[in-house]
Amino acid sequence: MRSRVVYESMFGNTAAIAEAIATGLRTHGTVEILNVCEAASTSAPTVDLLVVGGPTHALGLSRQRTRLDAAGRTEAPVVVDIGIREWLDAALPVAAGSRAAAFGTKTGKPSWMPGSAARGAAKRLRRLGYQLTDDPMNFLVDGMTGPLSEGELARAQAWGELLAFTEHDRIAHLH
Ligand SMILES: Cc1cc2nc3c(=O)[nH]c(=O)nc-3n(C[C@H](O)[C@H](O)[C@H](O)COP(=O)(O)O)c2cc1C
Repeated sequence: MRSRVVYESMFGNTAAIAEAIATGLRTHGTVEILNVCEAASTSAPTVDLLVVGGPTHALGLSRQRTRLDAAGRTEAPVVVDIGIREWLDAALPVAAGSRAAAFGTKTGKPSWMPGSAARGAAKRLRRLGYQLTDDPMNFLVDGMTGPLSEGELARAQAWGELLAFTEHDRIAHLH
């Protein structure tokens, strides 16, 4: 089974979750992991499963102005021009039966904040024609910039394994 993980990340937390999901997915096949900028500039071949995720900003997927806000909170270079929202909004509809899953990160501590980038990504994936393997999945960070809350990397890897197992099993039953 071939999978691709496409992620957006300002402070590195969603990138780390994407890597952990990819590790889980590798239990059943090959995985390619791309930052949304790379994904936007390559016309990558179709895969069996596309997994897409980004940070929750202002209740949903980031926008240019929220990415600018994030850029002001870190010394690290932040990509402001494109995020998961813009990438999915520019994507073409997919063939019937295409499979995907959505994830996101959000603040869980010291006080839980509302909103879910995962839900925003899932909505757009469905609109493009994807069938979702699982419900959109949120992973938590402490504060605005992280680090990831305890146990979230392990949970992300386990979720990747679950997605891989589900799809691998489904493909096996098709043949
Ligand atoms: C501009 C901005 C708006 C945010 N809005 C929310 C929000 O509405 N809900 C939430 O749970 N977290 C919110 N957060 C926290 C982010 O979800 C958190 O920074 C992100 O999960 C970190 O992931 P990253 O390191 O990959 O960027 C916001 C962060 C920023 C910078």
